[in-house]
Amino acid sequence: MNNESRILCKRLQDRIMSADQAASLVFSGANVGMSGFTGSGYPKAIPVALAERIEKANRDGQKFKIGVWTGASTAPELDGALARADGVELRLPYQSDPTCRKRINAGEMEYLDIHLSHVAQFVWFGFLGKLDIAVIEVTGILEDGRLIPSTSIGNNKTWLEQSDKVILEVNSFQDLRLEGMHDIYYGTNIPPHRQPIPLLRPHDRIGDPYLHCDPDKIIAVVETHSPDRNSDFAEPDENSRLIAGHILEFFEHEVKKGRLPKNLLPLQSGVGNIANAVMAGLNHGPFDNLTAYTEVLQDGMLDMIHSGKLVSASATAFSVSKTALEKFYAHLDEYRDKIVLRPQEISNHPEVIRRLGVIAMNGMIEADIFGNLNSTHVMGSSIMNGIGGSGDFARNAYISIFMTPSQAKNGQISCIVPMASHVDHTEHDVQIIVTEQGLADLRGLSPNQRARVIIENCAHPKFRPALHDYHKRAFDSSFGKHTPHLLDEALSWHHRYLSSGSM
Ligand code: COA
Repeated sequence: MNNESRILCKRLQDRIMSADQAASLVFSGANVGMSGFTGSGYPKAIPVALAERIEKANRDGQKFKIGVWTGASTAPELDGALARADGVELRLPYQSDPTCRKRINAGEMEYLDIHLSHVAQFVWFGFLGKLDIAVIEVTGILEDGRLIPSTSIGNNKTWLEQSDKVILEVNSFQDLRLEGMHDIYYGTNIPPHRQPIPLLRPHDRIGDPYLHCDPDKIIAVVETHSPDRNSDFAEPDENSRLIAGHILEFFEHEVKKGRLPKNLLPLQSGVGNIANAVMAGLNHGPFDNLTAYTEVLQDGMLDMIHSGKLVSASATAFSVSKTALEKFYAHLDEYRDKIVLRPQEISNHPEVIRRLGVIAMNGMIEADIFGNLNSTHVMGSSIMNGIGGSGDFARNAYISIFMTPSQAKNGQISCIVPMASHVDHTEHDVQIIVTEQGLADLRGLSPNQRARVIIENCAHPKFRPALHDYHKRAFDSSFGKHTPHLLDEALSWHHRYLSSGSM
């Protein structure tokens, strides 16, 4: 294959058309499964053309909305464009777009926040209704119709199999050397015939490098030439460096105790700047021959592959800055055997995560003094992004770590609170909490023991007296002493900050 012609399948030649023509094949009310995961591998042209069509329909007084299903978050050309056009009836399973967020929190768009490993199964069994159309970005189409995947896999295999019709975007911007880096597992059976997934090491290849699709289902092929979102990461700030330092110290302690091998266990690192900064810390830390079994490969992990610290990484998507991407392409031939991209039901598979003994590290919004954790909702009601894969990993990891600065919004809000205003990860799934103040190891501690350690080690000193005071008064007067609460006061903690206008 060369850049001149990326659509080698002769049967599809007569289906090549413009994005506008392809968008006209999407009907109002359709459930559309789009590719895209953390800003990579999403269709670039059709969602924009569709948004224009929806805006026109709205101007003409016709209601035109679709259901948008993806792997995870996408980009302004997809989530942003469709949300601005008010064209999304229901969105799932994860987003991080500001316009989308605004519409969801204004009650103008329905949003289903689903564990990423669950989505494929929900669709196979029809829990989400019918998938009408798949719109998938690929790097190229081979003569026999097999598809070279793009920079993310996400739910593409499921969308291609389960949808009635398929529209492909062939993006010539994506590097042809991506061919062979993917591993699409086609052995998934449904209960009661499900077999173990034969993946014993993070980099094992158990599937096919290509996506398969019945050519008869393909109704349009659109050629594009556009980069992924490639957002920059912030340089690690003092808080991120301190958080990374506490985590490294903890790993050294666990190795000394014989609870972790010298090269640790496969790492999972969540989205965002802090997660990226922890990888930067590990890159300069004492551990070698590391591996990753994770969801997204951010800049930090690519740097670790480059330095040789990370010997292999399995994920479902890249989520890298422009600079990291350029470096990645400059060294792609060295990296290609070290990176495997898989469908998200495998990258996030509970059984595999548990078996490999993954160390999960994810961001959070707030934790309560007993270790219940909110990753998604500010003030318990306003969605930030979504749970993403954090639950898939936290529940099943060998060690489950959550991290945040101790305060948000210029120090006006404590990220350690009496009672989490929304719970994504319960006290039973959270083992380690880390802020720039320190690390709380919750393993083996009862709720009241956890409260003391979390307040002392993780809360900002200016909030500690109020949190200790709450815990003491709750213990003294709560109906039950096991997980004591002053319910009116716990819930009003957040409202104090709301009424002070800091939100
Ligand atoms: N109260 C109110 N707002 C808070 C807050 C709190 N306790 N804690 C954080 N925030 C706000 C920040 O101020 C910031 O707001 P801004 O965008 O207006 O500046 C925003 O939340 C993001 O916080 P930030 O400190 O930049 O953290 P981050 O980039 O590390 O993201 C999460 C943190 C929790 C939002 C992010 O990790 C996430 O979406 N997690 C859920 C999904 C997930 O874990 N996926 C990975 C699985 S592989």
